[in-house]
Amino acid sequence: MITVRDLQTHPLDQVHRLIEPGPVILITTQHRGVPNVMTNGFNMMVRHEPALIGCTVGPWDHSYRALVETGECVISVPTAEMAQTVVDIGNCSGADTDKFQEFGLTALSGEKVQAPLVGECYANIECRVADAGLVAAYHLFLLEPVRAWTDPSQPQPRLLHHRGDGTFSVDGEVIDLKYRMTKWQYLL
Ligand SMILES: Cc1cc2nc3c(=O)[nH]c(=O)nc-3n(C[C@H](O)[C@H](O)[C@H](O)COP(=O)(O)O)c2cc1C
Repeated sequence: MITVRDLQTHPLDQVHRLIEPGPVILITTQHRGVPNVMTNGFNMMVRHEPALIGCTVGPWDHSYRALVETGECVISVPTAEMAQTVVDIGNCSGADTDKFQEFGLTALSGEKVQAPLVGECYANIECRVADAGLVAAYHLFLLEPVRAWTDPSQPQPRLLHHRGDGTFSVDGEVIDLKYRMTKWQYLL
């Protein structure tokens, strides 16, 4: 029988490696006419309706100021095919690099916000900052989607999930358990 002595302790500053967040996303902003994009792994859905998404964006990111000052961004969802670019985008800064140019990304105009969509991504969600009350304490922006787009040419996207240490898992396998979701039929 297993006892706690059979387990090993896990560093508290690495618990994020145990509870994987949502897929790695890109967050685009547009500040004083200049578009930028960053990589974000700490994000989660907060509410279904109206939809609310939480993203942590630190003040060390050039994107932080753009997000604070414009109150707008686009969440772009990349696929596994973009993995290396996604990591590279998160290892340089819009402070000194035009990342759309550097990485050959296609900036598309959305409808509701100034920040660009990323044409190569599977999905793009135009967002407005709904609540900045947790930014000072946690760098946590609560974002309300105001328009969402998907690319019909990518019907079965494989999304990237950061394991917290520079390694990534890739999803893709679908297990259909809708018939067991008896309590949550209205969400299906
Ligand atoms: C896989 C990965 C995940 C990241 N997740 C986050 C995150 O959740 N929050 C954050 O503030 N920065 C995160 N970063 C770091 C930013 O993407 C990085 O600081 C980037 O250079 C910011 O770009 P900017 O200065 O143009 O805004 C991540 C980077 C990588 C590679």
